[in-house]
Amino acid sequence: MKGVVLAGGLGTRLAPLTRVTNKHLLPVYDKPMIFYPIQALVNAGVRDILIVTGGNSAGDFLKLLANGKDFGLRHLNYAYQEGEGGIAAALDVAEPFAEGERICVVLGDNIIEENFLAAARDFLAQPSGAKILLKEVPDPQRFGVPAFDQAGRIVRIDEKPKQPKSGYAVTGIYMYDPDVFSIIKTLRPSERGELEITDVNNHYLARGDLSYQVLDGWWSDAGTFASLLRTSNLVAQTGANKME
Ligand code: G1P
Repeated sequence: MKGVVLAGGLGTRLAPLTRVTNKHLLPVYDKPMIFYPIQALVNAGVRDILIVTGGNSAGDFLKLLANGKDFGLRHLNYAYQEGEGGIAAALDVAEPFAEGERICVVLGDNIIEENFLAAARDFLAQPSGAKILLKEVPDPQRFGVPAFDQAGRIVRIDEKPKQPKSGYAVTGIYMYDPDVFSIIKTLRPSERGELEITDVNNHYLARGDLSYQVLDGWWSDAGTFASLLRTSNLVAQTGANKME
């Protein structure tokens, strides 16, 4: 399975920190934010990784990450997203890289305490489809939120619902079969003018081909001032991307 880290966008929720630089280059405790999702992919057994960037300071990723030595890699791939079309539009840029293989996508501002190696293995044992990772959170209205039936199956995912149907967030770690790129091409922009990754996941759900697992350890995004501070404190207190 190949890996894709999405690290574009304007990071407007973090202005003025992001006025001249890219959100994913900002510090989270003692490392640039993007180090964490790359390490998370490596810990899940993924070695062939594409960084999709855009917005401000796109060229700085090359100098920062070079060929991936910090992660024990000999090579990294880079792609550039023109414009800001949303997460699914950013993922579309990865199609030539995927070359028909399965991909694991991690949002560049998502940081985890443990690892998702077992979920990645389970996904590879799945004949087709997609897998998402969930985490219970106190503020689900900030995220994609699954609604469950009585048997615990997901029936729908709502993007930032005012009245969440569960206490779970859909984290920014997604695993897809190669069909994901044809699904992206059917999407229409949402009310916020973006191609939503939640719409991609709802497509797989409608086909009956979306599985899920609940992530171990803490999970945090770092795209707002409060979550950036919280994530830095979590990393300082407990560390991130543990293998045990
Ligand atoms: C995005 C997704 C959302 C998901 C979240 C995880 O939100 O749209 O479904 O729960 O990432 O970090 P955004 O960061 O674009 O607000």
